[in-house]
Amino acid sequence: MKRIGVNIDHIATLRNARGEHHPDPFFAAKFVKKLGADSITIHLREDRRHINDSDAKKICSIKNLLVNLEISIKDEIVENALKINPNFICIVPENRKEVTTEGGLNLKKNKNKIKSIINLFKKKRIRTSLFINPNLNDILISKDLGADCIEIHTGRLANLVKSKKNIYKELLRIKKSSKLAEQLGMEVHAGHGLDYRSTKLLSKINEIKEFNIGHFIIGESVFYGLQKVIKEFRKIVK
Ligand code: PXP
Repeated sequence: MKRIGVNIDHIATLRNARGEHHPDPFFAAKFVKKLGADSITIHLREDRRHINDSDAKKICSIKNLLVNLEISIKDEIVENALKINPNFICIVPENRKEVTTEGGLNLKKNKNKIKSIINLFKKKRIRTSLFINPNLNDILISKDLGADCIEIHTGRLANLVKSKKNIYKELLRIKKSSKLAEQLGMEVHAGHGLDYRSTKLLSKINEIKEFNIGHFIIGESVFYGLQKVIKEFRKIVK
């Protein structure tokens, strides 16, 4: 069974645009679960541009809700994440000026730091995932670092699909990476830039067990409503 994780950061973006309390990410987290999301994802960014510490704490206190918290490797964020105590952690790269997460982690450069962060979360029995580009070397390093899961950055594939360009090579990279990760005993997730078409393509890769999708779900829901959009994604991946 493949799972759908809904990223609700953009609900917080909308709330923050007004500086008030609506729409409330806490309510959104409970609501998307009711609509069939298997988990929710929130990214506690260093600049707190959408989800903040208080949102994250409240959302992680919701009973029977699986929360995947995305974090960078910055000490302050890691310390807060340990206090927030989510079900899952996904370590992602973060650059100050980026609009969204632009690529996978630089595992070679940050090897020791990432290894020690994974160990911290493992001690708390928190499932830990690394957001990486689809290449075999990064899969091997992820295994070496002790990651439970890898999340493949699908942004490149998603852009090729959107611009109707040739997807063959990128899809092959994702397939090979997924296979190797599973062979090494890591669960495979996919996320970034996904819409109905790219998710449909990737859902044919058996090794991918979880999709984490945000921007398209929230954007499309403006027109069709969260219920219909989540239902459609569930249909595509199941
Ligand atoms: N997975 C990870 C690790 C991400 O960083 C993001 C973007 O925050 C997503 C999934 C969701 O990407 P999108 O909003 O483009 O669907």
